[in-house]
Amino acid sequence: MRFTGAHILSIDQFARPDIDRLFAVADDLRPYADRLRTTRILQGAILSSMFFEPSTRTRISFGSAFNLLGGEVRETTGIKASSLAKGESLQDTARVLSGYSDLIVMRHPQAGSVAEFAEASRVPVINAGDGDNEHPSQAFLDLYTIKQEMAGRGQGIDGLRIALIGDLRFGRAVHSLCKLLALYNGISYHLVSPPGLEAPEAIVAGLHQRGHHVALHHELEAGIRNVDILYVTRTQEERFPTQVEANRYRGLFRLNQDIYTQHCQPNTVIMHPLPRDSRSAAQELDADLDENPNLAIFRQTDNGVVVRMAMFALVLQVAEQVHDHAQPVTWYTAKRMP
Ligand code: NCD
Repeated sequence: MRFTGAHILSIDQFARPDIDRLFAVADDLRPYADRLRTTRILQGAILSSMFFEPSTRTRISFGSAFNLLGGEVRETTGIKASSLAKGESLQDTARVLSGYSDLIVMRHPQAGSVAEFAEASRVPVINAGDGDNEHPSQAFLDLYTIKQEMAGRGQGIDGLRIALIGDLRFGRAVHSLCKLLALYNGISYHLVSPPGLEAPEAIVAGLHQRGHHVALHHELEAGIRNVDILYVTRTQEERFPTQVEANRYRGLFRLNQDIYTQHCQPNTVIMHPLPRDSRSAAQELDADLDENPNLAIFRQTDNGVVVRMAMFALVLQVAEQVHDHAQPVTWYTAKRMP
């Protein structure tokens, strides 16, 4: 089991049985994520949550997941609020924080930085996004969602046809998802990007090497026709050298209900790692799709908590004992408006 006590830095570390196990643990933890039951299995454990780049769902869902297992979360956000701004090295920061915590989740703008940090850490480190490189936990929750959506259509992951759309060059969520899907059989990838924002060659070569079908497209309509899943992404403007350059790509591929109806097969699932860029010049995912029942974006975000709980349970080796420390909810019951 490659999760046990390990740093989680890249999808390259994993094989298909690891993912089967992760998803089985996530299924098992569902009542705790939904707060139908509670567990204190991580009571006494401390998570350090270090986000040196903007984040909403990744940071909060990692923190909630740790809390739901009974652990405590300490966090810092933004480089300016940490001693990195005083010139402290990643290694020194890792030495210090691993004396304070049992696990560290980290996001950083530089590719490879989380791995560098992990080398000096004495506790497991989870990569919550390192620059334009990878975002493994996002890929896990995306694939978990894909599995659920396809199960609802009587299909599995093998043989999946997926269009990955937008900024495939800088999109770390796409990089990790491409690698993760490649662990399955006979995947058809339709990589739809504007010229200049194609997926890195090393990733495409890896997909070919594993015998998958890969088609590259520069036109949205051509890429979205014969697929089960549309995975739309935001232009990663923060990765461009200048805003002027980023603006050249803004709003190039905009999916809306009209285009979906005209070009997609019925019931094609629509996904996005979020955030979607809602500014008028962008809107890669139009709000007119919000009523479309195939829009799975908030099912993805909801799954973020349970999948991250499963990651913690496996890394910290408590997955087997969760139920021993379970209790029915006696104080607060989760309430959701319809
Ligand atoms: C993604 C990321 O940070 O890479 N967001 C997320 O974590 N859900 C995608 C993005 O920012 O576009």
